[in-house]
Amino acid sequence: MKKTEKITLAFDVYGTLINTHGVLVLLESMIGEKANVFSNLWREKQLEYSFRKGLMDAYEHFGLCTAQALDYADAFLQTNLSASQKQTLLNQYKILPAFDDVIAGLDNIDKERFNLYAFSNGLYDSVNQLLEQAKISQHFDGVVSVDPLKTFKPNPKVYQYFLDQSNSQAKQTWLISSNNFDVLGALNYGLNSVWVKRSAQQVFDFWSKSPTLTLDDLTDLGSNIIQYTEQS
Ligand code: LAC
Repeated sequence: MKKTEKITLAFDVYGTLINTHGVLVLLESMIGEKANVFSNLWREKQLEYSFRKGLMDAYEHFGLCTAQALDYADAFLQTNLSASQKQTLLNQYKILPAFDDVIAGLDNIDKERFNLYAFSNGLYDSVNQLLEQAKISQHFDGVVSVDPLKTFKPNPKVYQYFLDQSNSQAKQTWLISSNNFDVLGALNYGLNSVWVKRSAQQVFDFWSKSPTLTLDDLTDLGSNIIQYTEQS
C-alpha cells in the first residue's frame, strides 16, 4: 500500500467503544446481586434478537431489540422490574460510557493516515448521542448505521454498505470490534479486522478465519495497524 493512501477504520460501537455493562451500578441498585447475570443476559438476547430478525428478514431497529431483550431478561430472572425502572435503564442505555482506553486510543491515531468511522447496528441518532455523551464524537469522519438497509451485522450487505458510505476499498479498511461475530463478518467480506480482547476470558470462535490483529485495548491501535501494513 502506498504511504499516502489513507486507511479506513470502522469502529464497532456497542461493546467496543461503548461499554454496554455501564448499566451495572444502576442495575445493582434495582436488583442487587443478580445485576451481573442480568446485564450479560440482556446483551446476549439483544444480539440474538438482531441476528434472528435479520435472518427472518423481519427487521426491527436495534433500540427495539434492546427493549425486548430487557423484558426477556426481567421475566427470565424474575426480577419484577417496574415499567418506570425499565424506562430508567433504557434511558441509561442512551448515555453509556466509553471504555477507559478509548479516548487515549483515539487521541493517539494519526488522522493524516486514517479515516475514522463509527459503524453500528444502532440507529444513527442513538449512536451520535452516545458518541457525544462519551465526548469522542469529534474524532470521527462519520457515523454509518445499518438502519437504512433494514438488516444487521454480520449480513455481508452491511459491510458493502459501509464501504460505499465511507468510499473505501475492502483491502484498505479495518473493522475494529470486540464482538466475534462482527470481526468474522468483516473478514468474511474481505476486510481486515482487529479483535479487541479486553479481558483474558474472552475466547475467539474456532472457525476458519482469525482476526488480522488481536489487541488488548485501543491504546496503540493506530501504530499497530501501520506496523502491520508496512510489514505486509
Ligand atoms: C454494534 C453492535 C454490534 O454497535 O454492538 O454494531
